[in-house]
Amino acid sequence: MRMVDIIEKKRNGEALTNDELDYFVSGVTDGSLPDYQISALLMAIYFRGMTEEETIALTKLMSRSGECADLDALGPQTADKHSTGGVGDKTTLIAAPIAAAVGVKIAKMSGRGLGFTGGTVDKLQSIPNYKVRLNPKEFIKIVQKTGLSVVGQTGNFAPADKKLYALRDVTATVESLPLIASSIMSKKLAAGAKSVVLDVKYGSGAFMHDRKKAEALAEIMVKIGNACGRKTTAYITNMDAPLGFCVGNTLEVAEAAEVLKGKNVPDLKVLSLSLAAGMASLSLGIPRDRAKALCADALCGGRAYNKFLEWIAAQGGDISVFNDLESFTKAKYSARLCADRDGYIERLDALTVGHVSALLGAGRARIEDEVDLTAGIRLFKKPGDDVKKGDALAELQSGTVKDFRDALKMLSRAFKFSDEKPKLPPIIYSVI
Ligand code: URA
Repeated sequence: MRMVDIIEKKRNGEALTNDELDYFVSGVTDGSLPDYQISALLMAIYFRGMTEEETIALTKLMSRSGECADLDALGPQTADKHSTGGVGDKTTLIAAPIAAAVGVKIAKMSGRGLGFTGGTVDKLQSIPNYKVRLNPKEFIKIVQKTGLSVVGQTGNFAPADKKLYALRDVTATVESLPLIASSIMSKKLAAGAKSVVLDVKYGSGAFMHDRKKAEALAEIMVKIGNACGRKTTAYITNMDAPLGFCVGNTLEVAEAAEVLKGKNVPDLKVLSLSLAAGMASLSLGIPRDRAKALCADALCGGRAYNKFLEWIAAQGGDISVFNDLESFTKAKYSARLCADRDGYIERLDALTVGHVSALLGAGRARIEDEVDLTAGIRLFKKPGDDVKKGDALAELQSGTVKDFRDALKMLSRAFKFSDEKPKLPPIIYSVI
């Protein structure tokens, strides 16, 4: 087989066979294919697309290109969730303990955040002594004991994706549906859970701005998951405004704890409960409505919060911080943004909020950068709220930035006002 023939075939719009895709993925993984030929095929895929069959075959091959987690010791009720990324998205910290409280087993590997979206591992690192690195035996033992564990990504999972993603990033081929779907799902398949819930976001603070594109991505990812023997479902969710009221690592952990303790943060609570119910429904084999009722009961009855504490303590985290969230979230420097007019908040642009939070130190430009765990934004008003001139809209905080002038100016541009109460989109648009 010759790579040039495979490139030509795809360039002409033909579908590749499993053997041809295997040749490609093997060559990417073992380094025998030059970057220029890999990049040429990526560009051909970008323009010509892939059939469902090809996308499924490519994903399977990528998922087997390195290590695969062995979760067999946890039985059949393992579940995982994946979010395509958003601003203020701390749903894993809420949905995972809820699902674990109703009997789902969650052995989750999570990444560090890049750019303006924070990673779950960064958030968890804001809890003193929380161990994000466990050996595989400890990891499984904690899930057996508590029902859940979340660790940082280690090991050589889907190495073909690492290479392909790096090349896509520099060849303008990131925005290809089959390439995005195979990239995300190859890592989920390698992570081993039998059920997978996807939160595919659309909107200004999401990777996909367009809802229709998010739906198309969700559809193909669900098909891939199911074709690969994983029960898979996807929620199409809105990310025009940040989720909840807090953005930034420590702030988000504290907000997750508050929701688990019973605070009603509507968008965050609705979405976290739905994602937990999605995991419970798939892995326990029960209808979604029944799963939702079980999950709501676990949340309202405090079992989910107890599960959260049990999990954090099992990974060495100091759970006493949750007794005094004000001290936990305190940062060295802070400043407030106040409204300069009366009215309703019509929009609060998630992307801008994410950028301001990163500017304050909560995001990283390169994966090896350190983040300021205390940096972030506490919102007091969200879309739909009415405000009077002078009301506090948000508090910005940082452990490193003392001069807030640029951040305040930028954040003020994220708020759009109107004289009439705006109609807001639902947080969950559809379920696939
Ligand atoms: N996230 C991934 O992991 N891969 C993509 O291609 C896009 C988003």
